[in-house]
Amino acid sequence: MLNWTVRSTHSSKPSTEKYNQIVKAYQETLKSSEIGFFRLPENRELLKQTKETFEVMKHRKYFVHIGIGGSALGPDMLLKALGDHSGVKFVFLNNIDPDDMKRSLDQVNLKDAVVYVVSKSGTTAETVAAMAIVLNEMEKVGITKEKYNEHFVFCTDPEKGDLRKLSKEWGVRTLDIPSNVGGRFSVLTPVGLFPAMFAGIDAEDLLTGAQDIQKHLFDSRIAENFFQLGFWIKDLHDKGINQTVMMPYSSLLKEYSAWFTQLWAESLGKEGKGLTPIPAYGATDQHSQMQLFMEGPVDKILFLIEVEQFECDFNLKNTVDGGAFKLLSSFKLSQLMKAELEGTLTALAENKRHVVHLKIPSLKEQYLGQMILFSECLTVLLGELLEVDPFNQPGVEAGKKYANAWLKSHG
Ligand code: PA5
Repeated sequence: MLNWTVRSTHSSKPSTEKYNQIVKAYQETLKSSEIGFFRLPENRELLKQTKETFEVMKHRKYFVHIGIGGSALGPDMLLKALGDHSGVKFVFLNNIDPDDMKRSLDQVNLKDAVVYVVSKSGTTAETVAAMAIVLNEMEKVGITKEKYNEHFVFCTDPEKGDLRKLSKEWGVRTLDIPSNVGGRFSVLTPVGLFPAMFAGIDAEDLLTGAQDIQKHLFDSRIAENFFQLGFWIKDLHDKGINQTVMMPYSSLLKEYSAWFTQLWAESLGKEGKGLTPIPAYGATDQHSQMQLFMEGPVDKILFLIEVEQFECDFNLKNTVDGGAFKLLSSFKLSQLMKAELEGTLTALAENKRHVVHLKIPSLKEQYLGQMILFSECLTVLLGELLEVDPFNQPGVEAGKKYANAWLKSHG
């Protein structure tokens, strides 16, 4: 099970009254019918719908994922963390850089591709642009409208948006993002589950892991630790310690940091408040950002994630006659990773830095599922404590509005 230890000179003790008030408000938020992410692990109907579509499309050799922000970061994180065991070639069209678009499309045989278009709103300009380009490319290779349903799968709001309308018109299979689940909270809906199935990832295990956290947040000692963690982060935020470093000691979790960055930033950065996320990964960032984390301004909380058991390992045994070679000779690669993490934890403590040391037993579906729901729940708790709405993104909407106005005035 995922667990964590706070390593810090600061401790936080909210009054019992304040503590009970927040816990009650928070648990009510999670139970509210307007908030759907927390109940996704038990929504087996979505899993069934996703499996059925996967069964029809699973012979395809290429998977083109079109989407941006919350519609892309979650699937990318799942694939990088848990790997692709299927031989399917994945291509993410998650930006509008023309050169990158060309390189990505050059890797795909559209005649043998499933094109997964993900957009909660169904109107995001970047996603619509990528889809328009793919439609033009399809035309070039003779994929006509009658065949769209053999290639496209959409994933969008059950009722609203252009994509939903188009799905009916074209007869394209369309998976639901429940209307009460926003983009950055949607990785455990078909947004993430469908590509996961193509990669041979066990979607059920992911949901089971998320369910573990769900249970603990309502009745256990873990719940108390969790709320204490939230109060501690909020206390430090109020003292100006308002940056959050997410640093798993695993290359495969690099995209987890990217996913967390969006979740934390877009959910909490509003009304002049927020916690600036900094993505990192160990041990690589020990040779990059760590100098700043260690001796720069004391304005950061560091989340260091330890994977206790790696799937593979390497012996460092060697006969080279040299200090570093000799020192490492009796160890395995995973032990070096452990030493780097432990060394950093000790040095951070000496420098009076604020650290949360998280551990997962291994990088398996179940534990990643736990980490996903843990991060989402912590984000919502911080929203409650900072008194901001973690589910909206007015700042993003404002940018979109002005971009559309620019297009109209230049059209
Ligand atoms: O988390 C969010 O809500 C956003 O990052 C969206 O996912 C992003 O803006 C893309 O929106 P959509 O899924 O509607 O295309």
